Amino acid sequence: MNKQAAYRHIENIAKPLSNYCNVEVHKFGVITSEDIGDNVENESIWVDGWDFTAWIIFNKSVSNAEIEKCKRFLSRDVYSKQINLSGSLVSKIYFGEGFQYFASNSISSTLHPSTSESQIGKLETKITIPAWVDNIVTQNMGGTYAPDYKKFARNLNLSYNEAKVYLATYGMRSFGEAKIIMSNLISNNAIRSSWSSEHQINILDFGSGTGGNLAAIIVAINEAYTTPPKLKILSVDGNENMLALQKDFLERIISHYNADVEIEYLHHRVTSLEDLMELASIADDDYHLITSFKCLSEIVSFPKIYYEFAKAISKRLHDKGILLILDVTTKDNLPQFNPILMNQELRSLERESSLKTLIPISCYLNSANCDVECFGQKQFLISHSLNKKYDISKVYYRALGHQSFVKQVHNRTSKGRFLIKWRYNLDGISQGDGVCKHCGDQTINIDAYYLKNN
Ligand SMILES: C[S@@+](CC[C@H](N)C(=O)[O-])C[C@H]1O[C@@H](n2cnc3c(N)ncnc32)[C@H](O)[C@@H]1O
Repeated sequence: MNKQAAYRHIENIAKPLSNYCNVEVHKFGVITSEDIGDNVENESIWVDGWDFTAWIIFNKSVSNAEIEKCKRFLSRDVYSKQINLSGSLVSKIYFGEGFQYFASNSISSTLHPSTSESQIGKLETKITIPAWVDNIVTQNMGGTYAPDYKKFARNLNLSYNEAKVYLATYGMRSFGEAKIIMSNLISNNAIRSSWSSEHQINILDFGSGTGGNLAAIIVAINEAYTTPPKLKILSVDGNENMLALQKDFLERIISHYNADVEIEYLHHRVTSLEDLMELASIADDDYHLITSFKCLSEIVSFPKIYYEFAKAISKRLHDKGILLILDVTTKDNLPQFNPILMNQELRSLERESSLKTLIPISCYLNSANCDVECFGQKQFLISHSLNKKYDISKVYYRALGHQSFVKQVHNRTSKGRFLIKWRYNLDGISQGDGVCKHCGDQTINIDAYYLKNN
């Protein structure tokens, strides 16, 4: 539903709700997925699972009993907070509206505090960008911070100067996410030891942009091994300005470690299946790591892009390789949210190939028999010298590999109640609030994104 239609919808609800609950409405409005950018998050509440979030400000502070009445009227959860209206405290309520994407039988929305004793394994998702990396981006390269999620929703035609803003703003988020995810993957003995037995680790990154995630991969590998392996990287992007800035950035990262890293920067735009096939044929190594961060959702006109990309490029995946696809969790103009599409498309590829999901672990256990429209999400908090406190980044990712390798990695996987959707609450605590439908009868909470060391 577009914003105008959503607004009209709430206009029709506000009056009868006010009559039923006997409280006067001061103002009402809507938040749609288009608004979920950098500023909305901290001051408003977004109700997951629905087409949009509606809000109503009452002219007084309402009691719990009145909130319960609102819930009864709407037949759904209602979230409330106190706000200051011209010097007096009044209540603002939020509720999901329009189409409900998460059927209640597929994802539970009950909260599970992270401090729960029955929770084992949790990925730490708060990160401060290392000072030396921060310094390269902000001091040496003159990166500036200017979040603008609408402008940076498509990055194929950014200029060199815009790319500098991208790097210091969004590239730093990708750095943080990739550093956390890669460090967790390499901490697993099966992955670590199989890669250390190789004389060289081959990496391919598609939609590499200004190099945020690639820089973090180089850092994670150099930190994890006493004698880091040689890295050979094929970095592919359709924007030459992004690639030029990336080259400058990565050269500085590599020289910090004096690391043995060889990078080929390839300017290649994918606009058709043929372009994807061409990419798979240009990439003539077997890759230990194939990544794509926040790029595939930019190629919106391409039907089943997650499926087609993974199918084409996995022909180049090493026996002990990992294919890691990460994307933002928006819906854009697509019929579904990206995580739902990614899940549907990658599990259908799994069923017809030798690939198997490594992460989320619940998908490793259940993908073969899963048809749920499942919305997964991890939220990362990234802080650096240019943002006031931290940036909140909402992404979803799936890592896959060949079956035998994935089974070796997961040789001691415990059963549990796998949390596949996470969010930070207002106190800065990360909470699992979406449970894999296939694990609902289990009692021990486990972060579906956390890979144990083994
Ligand atoms: C959101 S940026 C992500 C950059 C980097 N992976 C990161 O996370 O910081 C998306 C990148 O994908 C590239 N891209 C978008 N559409 C593309 C296409 N059709 N072919 C090749 N690259 C594309 C853009 O040029 C941009 O650099």
